[in-house]
Amino acid sequence: MKYEPTRLEIFLTRLAFLLYGKSVYQAFADCLPFNGNEQVLDFGCGMGTVAYYAARKLPNGQLTCLDISERWLNACRKTLRRYRNVIFLKGESQLLANESFDVVYCHFVLHDISDSELERVIPALTKSLKPGGVLVFREPLSNTKKISVIKYLIEQNRLIPKNSRITDIPVMGNALENVYIKQ
Ligand SMILES: C[S@@+](CC[C@H](N)C(=O)[O-])C[C@H]1O[C@@H](n2cnc3c(N)ncnc32)[C@H](O)[C@@H]1O
Repeated sequence: MKYEPTRLEIFLTRLAFLLYGKSVYQAFADCLPFNGNEQVLDFGCGMGTVAYYAARKLPNGQLTCLDISERWLNACRKTLRRYRNVIFLKGESQLLANESFDVVYCHFVLHDISDSELERVIPALTKSLKPGGVLVFREPLSNTKKISVIKYLIEQNRLIPKNSRITDIPVMGNALENVYIKQ
């Protein structure tokens, strides 16, 4: 579902990024499995909160920031204006080419997507991974039914669970972080 944020929402997110950037977003980016030369997708990048920390870990790779919202993507362009290894893509997961990414990550995105849309989004994300590629998500644990749907759809699409942990995130509460490998 397409949704454009208000200016206030973008402002408040920027404020949260300034206050909690390291403890929330950098902490997640630091756990992503990068060597530095990967092709990586930030699905639902928002204003680039995680991308800001992920891009600097890819000196010889490339980060694609994808968002369905023009306004969030413009805010992301602003956050990442100093990086040369980032490209911006506005639209849906269906735009993605098959087997083009080594790592795909989703940070607080999938829980907001309806079940019927997830049935399109998750296969598109898994197809966009190269064989051996890695999918990582971090989503709030509050909606356990949604988490079950996400996990079910990912495993239906030939991804093998590798790691799983629960973290307590400042302000946001408990979140589930799962890592999957594409066979
Ligand atoms: C809660 S925000 C999280 C943004 C960022 N990942 C973060 O953690 O700060 C969710 C983002 O996902 C985007 N989004 C929602 N559904 C989407 C879809 N089907 N395809 C691409 N982006 C989507 C929204 O526009 C929004 O920017």
